[in-house]
Amino acid sequence: MSARASPPVLDFSPFYGEDSAAKAKLVESIKECCLYNGFFQIIGHRVPIELQQAVMRCTKRFFEMPLEQKLEIDKNNNTFNRGYELLRSQMLEPGTGPELKEGLYIGEEIPEDHPYFIQRKLNSGPNQWPQMIEDPEEFQRTSMEYYRAVFALAKDVLGVLALTLGVHATYFDPLTDGAVATMRFLHYPAQPKDADEKLNRGIGAHTDFGCVTLLLQDEVDGLQVLDVPTGEWLDVQPVPGAYVVNLGNLFMRMANDKYKSNTHRVINKSGRERYSIPFFFSGNPDYLCECLPNCRKQQEAPKYGPITVEQAVTAAYKESYGRAEKYKQEMKVKLETIASPVVMAA
Ligand code: OGA
Ligand code: NI
Repeated sequence: MSARASPPVLDFSPFYGEDSAAKAKLVESIKECCLYNGFFQIIGHRVPIELQQAVMRCTKRFFEMPLEQKLEIDKNNNTFNRGYELLRSQMLEPGTGPELKEGLYIGEEIPEDHPYFIQRKLNSGPNQWPQMIEDPEEFQRTSMEYYRAVFALAKDVLGVLALTLGVHATYFDPLTDGAVATMRFLHYPAQPKDADEKLNRGIGAHTDFGCVTLLLQDEVDGLQVLDVPTGEWLDVQPVPGAYVVNLGNLFMRMANDKYKSNTHRVINKSGRERYSIPFFFSGNPDYLCECLPNCRKQQEAPKYGPITVEQAVTAAYKESYGRAEKYKQEMKVKLETIASPVVMAA
């Protein structure tokens, strides 16, 4: 296949309409993207632009708070992935440095008497909300309203993905019922102009862990997708109101590698602050992921055995956080063993 441009921007509205030809065309375009690199952008969805703008304002308002206030809701306070994550906490690309992004993790509000909390299911528990932020109630309300709107859109996207596989749009209902998802508000500080490009990443080259990711970008670019045939990095230009949709490793696994979960990264060289809100849809933690229909030849055995959503996602998290922790430990040892005085950058 010849080199392709950035992921195409597709109008999703035929999914909701009566025009069956338009709908079939949408399904075909999405299928093509899934086979190629699993990336596309959608407009014409049902998440109101005003809600997107409101949640972006919340995101900026949060990161403007003083560090010690953000740290009051440190994500390390709990085991279910809610709260604030400091710069340089994660490291997805071996050989680079910890990443230049800070984040706030938000998910479904799961009270402590909920079976998911009691059974310590994947990413399940109460959110940690900032108390010192301006208008904390509006912050919570907007964040959760947005979460629910994107959750609904993720279900619709899975509906279309089912259609691309030649099965009914409701095929993934057992995956989406009782699903867990994680939304992250992200802030990428402007990278210093002279920063070592190899070591300084907003997010290092990685693939996403779960089933599907829906990303809202503000107007500052920085996201790049690897074009596998050419080895080039393609910029994903922000389109107002659009979602960048990409498949994650778990979906690729279920699709027997027929659909792709593609490598992407963020380098914020714009000289401006960048904000984005990815929504990672994992699925019902107990859903058993097996080879999907029409993803292998009749006689062929599936490449992968069954695995639950919870098992797959937990293993992937452990790996990437472990890497950042190990790197920091190694750096600490190195610095402590250097005898001669060196001038260290902060
Ligand atoms: C991610 C990711 C891209 C972005 O969080 O996995 O790829 O633009 N984010 O923030
Ligand atoms: Ni990603």
